[in-house]
Amino acid sequence: MTFDLTLNNGVVMPALGLGVFQSPPAETSAAVETALSVGYRHIDTAAAYLNEREVGEGIRRSGLDRSDVFIETKVWVTDYGRDETLHAFEKATGKLGVDQLDLVILHQPVPSRFETTIAAYQALETLLADGRVRAIGVSNFTPAHLDRLLAETEVVPAVNQVELHPYFSQPDVRQADEQHGIVTQAWSPIGGITFYPGWGDKRRSVMDDPELAAIGADHGKSAAQVMLRWHLQEGRSAIPKSTNPERIAQNFDVFDFELSGDELARIDALDTGVRSGPDPDVLREELFQRVIPEA
Ligand code: A2P
Repeated sequence: MTFDLTLNNGVVMPALGLGVFQSPPAETSAAVETALSVGYRHIDTAAAYLNEREVGEGIRRSGLDRSDVFIETKVWVTDYGRDETLHAFEKATGKLGVDQLDLVILHQPVPSRFETTIAAYQALETLLADGRVRAIGVSNFTPAHLDRLLAETEVVPAVNQVELHPYFSQPDVRQADEQHGIVTQAWSPIGGITFYPGWGDKRRSVMDDPELAAIGADHGKSAAQVMLRWHLQEGRSAIPKSTNPERIAQNFDVFDFELSGDELARIDALDTGVRSGPDPDVLREELFQRVIPEA
């Protein structure tokens, strides 16, 4: 049995998808094709990853019907604003080679210029009303960002995609999402990000955590598989990235075992409260250097 999540507008999203952040364009089509051949039906990309074209190519090569694949992408901050975001949708669909997208989310808030974040989200609301996208959402929103958005817009986001792995499991964000009926989606779900330099002396990979290895050994599964199963059983979506065919297949081989309540609690207890990726409240000017090419 695979896990499906019903979003707050009734749209059904496969919980486990393939991530393609940092997948080189030359390897992305093959990764997507491999993933679809082993059973994935959800691909998460972003305009800023600069590989939407290759994602579209991989989906076409799979031979699957368009309606069988859930396609999610993100609008980059330099495309925030009403007209800009409407145009960003045209760029994304042009590159992906599709007419409609299943889920479009804002890549991150721009706290110091939140009015452009609001305008971008309102453009997504228009695309939703027009049937161009089936669901809309956000990424890297803290509970405070969500409150600001909800106060100024109409449609509650369907999804909030945030950094989330056993070393940083964001209980406050999960609670806020749940309160509002928003599905939490984990980026870096198996902790690829935990090599981020912000860790200093404590720098280590969650994939080498002994607790996860011990739980995995009891089920004949890897630490990565244990983490993915943890997300699924706790009701989250997860989008692990890999361009390696064996690891793509391994990450989807998580539907034949079950973690106990005690095991889930042991994984929850690994939270350090220390973020590895960028702080969504700190605006980095280099974010505004990247211009998303035309389709
Ligand atoms: P690769 O593409 O060579 O497989 P995350 O999505 O949590 O950020 O993790 C992505 C990173 O983890 C990538 O570096 C990816 O490398 C690696 N990875 C993906 N799946 C696995 C796995 N099952 N075991 C170990 N490493 C993995």
